[in-house]
Amino acid sequence: MPRTLRTVTALSAATLCIAFAAAEARSKSIAHVQEFDGGISGINQVGFQMQDPPLGSTHAPAAKAAPASLAGSTIAALTDGALVIDADSGKLLRADRDGKVVAQLDVGPEASQLVVDRKNDRAFVVDRAHDQVLVVSLADGGVAKLDAIRTAAEPFGVALSPNGATLLVTQVADQRLTAFDTGSGFEKWSLDLGPEPRGVSISPDGDEALVTFLTTGVVARVELGSGSAQPRLSFVSLDPATAPVVGGAVFNDFAQQPSNVAPSNRAVAFNPDRGKSFVRNAFAAGYVGNGIAVVPHQLSTPHLATGDFEAPSGGYGGGNGFTAPVNHRLAFLDTPDVGQDAGSVRTAMAATSLHQPRAMAYDGQTDTLYVAGYGSDDVLAIADVSQSSVHMGWQQSVVDGSGSCAPDGLAVDSDTGNVLVFCSLTRKIVRLKGDADTTTAPAVTHSDELAKSNLSSAELRGKKMFRQGRSPMISSFGAMACASCHAEGRSDGLTWFLQGNILQTPFLAGRLVDTHPFKWDGQDANLNVSLTSTVKRLGGSGITSADADDLQAFLTALPKPRTPTVEDSSAVVRGKQLFESETTGCLNCHDGAMSTDRKRHDLASDLKSVDTPSLIGLAQSAPYYHDGSATSLDSLLRNNGSIHAMGRTSRLEDAQISDLVAYLETL
Ligand code: HEC
Ligand code: HEC
Repeated sequence: MPRTLRTVTALSAATLCIAFAAAEARSKSIAHVQEFDGGISGINQVGFQMQDPPLGSTHAPAAKAAPASLAGSTIAALTDGALVIDADSGKLLRADRDGKVVAQLDVGPEASQLVVDRKNDRAFVVDRAHDQVLVVSLADGGVAKLDAIRTAAEPFGVALSPNGATLLVTQVADQRLTAFDTGSGFEKWSLDLGPEPRGVSISPDGDEALVTFLTTGVVARVELGSGSAQPRLSFVSLDPATAPVVGGAVFNDFAQQPSNVAPSNRAVAFNPDRGKSFVRNAFAAGYVGNGIAVVPHQLSTPHLATGDFEAPSGGYGGGNGFTAPVNHRLAFLDTPDVGQDAGSVRTAMAATSLHQPRAMAYDGQTDTLYVAGYGSDDVLAIADVSQSSVHMGWQQSVVDGSGSCAPDGLAVDSDTGNVLVFCSLTRKIVRLKGDADTTTAPAVTHSDELAKSNLSSAELRGKKMFRQGRSPMISSFGAMACASCHAEGRSDGLTWFLQGNILQTPFLAGRLVDTHPFKWDGQDANLNVSLTSTVKRLGGSGITSADADDLQAFLTALPKPRTPTVEDSSAVVRGKQLFESETTGCLNCHDGAMSTDRKRHDLASDLKSVDTPSLIGLAQSAPYYHDGSATSLDSLLRNNGSIHAMGRTSRLEDAQISDLVAYLETL
């Protein structure tokens, strides 16, 4: 039944009030909402709890110290201190054991990860913004640039093979995993991974590697083989509904779900208790003992099973009552030996109360895994992590006097067993000194600020709010943070059921200046209003207009997403001509620097009108349209998704469509 815009607004306002009041009533009856000790349904309240039988062995792993360089992080332990990259100040910082800076090097903002090659007293530092990996000498207690290895567009994750001969690097914009020879800097091989790859980790025997993704719900497994041979690539799905239970063990078969098919288009079984859930925001992967790997991630449930699907709902993914649409987990993977049946990777899941678990580090001496909550500012110790006796150790807050940290890197100092945490918001190193049994909470020491921030104080406050989990101010019971759906200011690639419509999460970075009005239906005239209304929809108790200004300052300063390397520049030129021609008529609505007329059009069947979106960052923002009904740019131009008559594309030939796509991917 078609509704007028007015009815929709009225309906949503009414349901909003109900959702809001209910959330408020509940938070009042719970003493310490932030600690989740009030029996709220659907939110993990325990630091760590296995949901499946553990995969680990009955005995402790052979205590072989695997090098930390098997997976990158923002921090690495050195024998005399630590090495850190701070994406905010753009510095590589070397600190002593007391956290005092002893040497530094400008590497430019947005450096993402580093690994230390202890044997050769050097480090590999990924410069995400300039498509290179810096080779940095650590000799004589300093940091000095030796060389740079060129990569494809937007390198992010890095890992060094156990023999130090090969460096693996993921590249976000070009969606690749590339192996470089550390001696010559030459490329050995390169693999197409699919959208949004992030971390990479090599197994201690050097036989395989795992790559994580922000938006596809899978982990890539790469059987490395030897020499320059192209390795074998397969995918393990972590999405719950696609993991059929076989003989008590969960087997994943990624064959049913190629990574290039957008999540909204996948056939996902419907779980009557949990709705449809999707794995998102996996940054790190790491091997622990006994051949087990761990991948911290988020479980998003955009359409809850509770409630009638047609009933208008106030909150994101909300149904009747409150069931958390976002939860956090750790996936345990038991991968078979290389060469054996690649499809049969066993998985077991654990729930965690860490919000946005991101960085991790493993101590092979004690078989303890440490994981940090980027949104909850705490670190969790998991004891006997590769054994059937796996259990929770301590969970420790790492905030300083300013009340935040945003840990994005962890390392174990193998000489002392201390855990080193890098706080990306305060730019401090936190040292955690616990006992080997992880039974007593560790002693916590904070360094001084290592470097000055490049961000304004408003941007910093906005950044802090954006990733803040467990804040009832932002969302119902603090279950969701902005970064839960817009990690790095991007999009989770999901469509959320909200206010009676199926709405896709839009990309934010690079798309928010001169693009008003906001929201798919253009209901919010400016960004400040849009942010305040978003928080209400999330069931938060509300932010002030000054808070919204801070969020706005942070969001509008985010750099535009990088575009993939152009393969055929003449196709791009032809595509641009087509885009600007009367033949297609695209410019009628997508004109100007932001490619939007900032007007609403009657193109959708379920929304009264749709605001013309900016086309910035299209190469990374699939699926498309307000409802995610076009899974690729090609299908958008050929089949129109659910949209009728957007521009004139029906008479375009195949070659013209591919030219147009080539051009759109450069925006
Ligand atoms: C549960 C997932 C989710 C969370 C959490 C979330 N968003 Fe969104 N965001 C969406 C979806 C879906 C839309 C589209 C909604 C619409 O158009 O009505 C959206 C739209 C927006 C828009 C409008 C963009 C445009 O171009 O029109 C902005 C800005 C935004 N979100 C910022 C935020 C901020 C800031 C937070 C935290 C306070 C946040 N979001 C939390 C999913 C989410
Ligand atoms: C009449 C105005 C109009 C014309 C002409 C037009 N568009 Fe659009 N475009 C829109 C609107 C409105 C939307 C949002 C539709 C929706 O999501 O429901 C949109 C969405 C898109 C999207 C999806 C963006 C995203 O992030 O989901 C792409 C890509 C796009 N248009 C490209 C084109 C191209 C290429 C042409 C020319 C062939 C074109 N448009 C012509 C108004 C227009």
